[in-house]
Amino acid sequence: MKYMRYGGEYEIEDRAGLLRRAGRIGRHLLRPALWAFTITLVATVARLLGPVVVGRGIDDGIAAQDKNAITTAAVIYLVLLGVQYASQRVSQYAIARVGEQFLLRLRSRVFSHLTRLDMPFYDNAKTGVLVSRMTADIESITEFVNEGAVLALTNALTTIGVAVAMMVLDMQLALAVFVVIGMVVLISVLFQRTVSTAYARVRESIGRVLASLQEGLTGVRVVQAFTQEGPQSANFGRVNERYFEANMTAARAISWYFPAINFLRTAGIAVVLFIGGTRVISGDLSFGVLVAFLLYLNWFFEPIINLANVYNLFQASLAALAKLFELLDAKPKVVERPDPDRLPDAVAGELALEDVSFGYVEDLVLEDFSLVVPAGQRLAVVGETGAGKSTVAKLLMRFYDPQRGRVTIDGHDLRDLAFTSRARAIALIPQDGFLFDGSLRDNLRYARPGADDQAIWDVCRAMGIDGWVRSLPDGLDTEVRERGSRFSAGERQLVALGRAFLADPAVVVLDEATSNLDPETEVQVEGALRIVLAGRTAVVIAHRLRSAERADRVVMVDAGRVIADGTHDELVATSREYQALVEVWHRGVA
Ligand SMILES: Nc1ncnc2c1ncn2[C@@H]1O[C@H](COP(=O)(O)OP(=O)(O)OP(=O)(O)O)[C@@H](O)[C@H]1O
Ligand SMILES: [Mg+2]
Repeated sequence: MKYMRYGGEYEIEDRAGLLRRAGRIGRHLLRPALWAFTITLVATVARLLGPVVVGRGIDDGIAAQDKNAITTAAVIYLVLLGVQYASQRVSQYAIARVGEQFLLRLRSRVFSHLTRLDMPFYDNAKTGVLVSRMTADIESITEFVNEGAVLALTNALTTIGVAVAMMVLDMQLALAVFVVIGMVVLISVLFQRTVSTAYARVRESIGRVLASLQEGLTGVRVVQAFTQEGPQSANFGRVNERYFEANMTAARAISWYFPAINFLRTAGIAVVLFIGGTRVISGDLSFGVLVAFLLYLNWFFEPIINLANVYNLFQASLAALAKLFELLDAKPKVVERPDPDRLPDAVAGELALEDVSFGYVEDLVLEDFSLVVPAGQRLAVVGETGAGKSTVAKLLMRFYDPQRGRVTIDGHDLRDLAFTSRARAIALIPQDGFLFDGSLRDNLRYARPGADDQAIWDVCRAMGIDGWVRSLPDGLDTEVRERGSRFSAGERQLVALGRAFLADPAVVVLDEATSNLDPETEVQVEGALRIVLAGRTAVVIAHRLRSAERADRVVMVDAGRVIADGTHDELVATSREYQALVEVWHRGVA
């Protein structure tokens, strides 16, 4: 007998609503689902007819001494067996297919929704939780779909079918059986409750045991250095003990349940044999019907036990579904306007923040912040950590919308622009060049998927990285692997720059794009940067002297306000705060 290690407390508020919503996601599966149901019904009926045929064989054949009747019964039985075999195979497959297709759609719904959610959402979400939605929760639904759905449907149909068949055959005997079955249902429900809370505790304590084990092992040097082996073991011992207790609760429940079920099974047979046998002797019941009953009786127990098992699986997957729906209900705040404006092909690239006030949560990070960057200017934004420099960059990318004021490009409010239009006009180069799994070519043309090799090589030559690309084992076909782990930080940054260059945006925003690099690589990246930035508006968030010196203009930000604005030389001459910052930079470089 198999029992599933699932269970625990699941608070499911609106079960009907959940199921309706799941139904809407699987609406396209109505036809295959009906087919799966029908064929499962056929399989069940074929199976249920077996005992009836056996009973008739006994009554019409053996009792009546009619060989033909026996042959007929045997042939019909064989045919039923064939039908059962064939339909069961089709049914298993059909149910699995419906379930898998439902999961297929659910997974892609959740994933595509996740890619559309905005930065405010990701600021508040824990990546671990999101990953567990896509793995553990989906897995729990998958488990129900793979094992539970087939079990649930076939067993529910069998239980109903057996009950109906018994009532049709003989009402009085059926009622006697139902009393026994009632007890089976009762103790199965009790058992499932006990065992599911026990398993929930087992799972929880497995987590604790593992955590304690890991802590003890990874910290083994510290443990030994302070001779804390004793307390550490005692600590593990407590957790270990709880794990033991939880498992024993489950074991106790299992140790009374299965014997009890077996007892009831035998008792059921005894009851039927006694009542039925007495009535056969008094001529009130045929012998064949009695045999059919005894055969059915066996089929009554298994499905009920299975159903009780599947119920936990069902609960767990409903809970997972509820969590996934919650995720699907998260609405992005940064959204595209219906019928948005589009920028012309030739974008000048004048940027402006007009009286912008913005805060991630309640406190404002930028207050009445105004800044105009003329087209083609290279602007350096400097300031202490936490001043709000990256926040300006994120607003320029429209990762967030300001609470007050507007952010514009060529006079268009970013909120009025189509996402694609904005993305074509403004490129962000973050601190760490992010590479995707795939070839170098795919990574370079990420923002312009149609670009041919000619265009890619042109860009590489212009940036002076064609020699490097050629030196790679497979040139443009070189596989980047996870996050570009085979490239250095500088090389990744060069690829990110090449990507932006190829996309040919009017505006480039760099957030400390060279701060991760060693001086030598930085020179190379700086060289490429000069080429990429030529003729474009650039907002460079700088935290090195050289980046500020190279800019046409420097803006110093402090506590969300512009406190100095001018060329590097002007600021050195006029701004005390800037002098202090330059002083810090000098010391850092020296
Ligand atoms: N996602 C966020 N949620 C809440 N507060 C944030 C978030 N990002 C930044 N902040 C806060 O906003 C303020 C400005 O942060 P910002 O990242 O713009 O600073 P910065 O000037 O780029 O600093 P650094 O030089 O360290 O990168 C800080 O007080 C920071 O704590
Ligand atoms: Mg920053």
